[in-house]
Amino acid sequence: MSLIRDAHGTLCLGGVDLTAVLREAASPTYAYDLDAMAGEARSLEAAFEGAPHLVAYAVKANTAGAVVRTLAAAGCGADIVSRAELRVALACGVDPDHIVFSGVAKEDVEIEEAVAAGDRGVAAIQLESVEEVSRVAARARALGRKARVGVRINPGIDLEGATHAHIATGHDTAKFGVAGADVLRAVDLIESSPDLVLAGLGCHAGSQFTTLEPYLAAARVVFDLVRDLRADGRLRSLSFVDSGGGFGVDYGGGCGVSPADFVRASRAEQRARNLGDLQLTIEPGRSLVAPHGVLLARVIQSKIGATRRWLMIDAGMNDLIRPALYQAHHPIVAVTQAPGELLVPWRVVGPVCESSDDFGAHDLGRDAPSAVAILGAGAYGYTMASVYNGRQLPAEVFVRAGKSVGKTARRSVESWVRERSQAGL
Ligand code: LLP
Repeated sequence: MSLIRDAHGTLCLGGVDLTAVLREAASPTYAYDLDAMAGEARSLEAAFEGAPHLVAYAVKANTAGAVVRTLAAAGCGADIVSRAELRVALACGVDPDHIVFSGVAKEDVEIEEAVAAGDRGVAAIQLESVEEVSRVAARARALGRKARVGVRINPGIDLEGATHAHIATGHDTAKFGVAGADVLRAVDLIESSPDLVLAGLGCHAGSQFTTLEPYLAAARVVFDLVRDLRADGRLRSLSFVDSGGGFGVDYGGGCGVSPADFVRASRAEQRARNLGDLQLTIEPGRSLVAPHGVLLARVIQSKIGATRRWLMIDAGMNDLIRPALYQAHHPIVAVTQAPGELLVPWRVVGPVCESSDDFGAHDLGRDAPSAVAILGAGAYGYTMASVYNGRQLPAEVFVRAGKSVGKTARRSVESWVRERSQAGL
């Protein structure tokens, strides 16, 4: 963990004093430890022990260029879901051969851009329906290229209780992936198309799995199918299998398995079916970045009622929506806390006019702290932020080698007011 409290009680991220960050940056601000993110990527790389693989970082978790560049330099490719994400990945130096394009409803212009990238297009456009096969073939033909595609299979696994319903994707009623009963139709269509090459078969069962079993259950469905089709002499062009992302992190409630454990277990399933010649692609987002980002917020005021102590901070659900949307718990600590200070429970809430703008109960000093850090905020924080209630998007600060090395520019309140008040209309 890259977060420590020094002898004076000050929180430091990657060796940088967070009180200093708050003095210089606007609040609220995300702060990320780039070295620790690179370390996560390297330990995943090591878990493959030299076997053919691609760690396609799911860019949607954190699209900041500094983060994408850091992970690309540590050996990651990218899993993208829009042409904007494709452009960020390419601008950050990710090789198109290391990019997979997921997404349940890709627009024609997005498909075209992915087919046109680099010399051969991206490594795989992951098809999520039988209908999409002819759409991608048509775009490839129009561009005079052969498109490499994968099929994302919906493994039809009962995921009840394995993760939050909003982030479970591998069950029968989810909109994602090609259902088991339709996979052969999709494979036949692709293999008979002169415009397509079937490069991979895979799945993504969901996010934030804190045990191996649901993840492996989905991977087994894919690997069994590949084994059986190969036994029938099919899938001759296949170069990879993809067991998806979804490795859980510890948001305070525990997570008994490491990201590398998921890789090792998935590889064992792959080898057990004699598929060791195929590259194993994985698509981790959260596990690479969540633990190494915090959301720093200043305390606006306290409100001490007869039954509750509220701590009102300047970060709200528009800055970090996970608690409101998934009832997620993110630990919150004071940025400065005297050693041995007595802690009491506070209800930490934001300024947004919604009751769900509530980060839950946290033990903090009896005297309200002046600033807090919301932990585990490196993934799906900034990327899901909005300007609801006329609020600005949060700031971002990047830490590397014990120094703060940059921040992203923040759009001004004035520009929002100008745009919304529609001068001239
Ligand atoms: N691959 C595909 C096809 C995906 O849809 C996703 C996430 C990933 C990989 C990466 O999953 P990860 O390793 O990050 O769990 N906003 C939610 C998470 C939504 C995930 C959507 N898809 C949250 O904050 O928990």
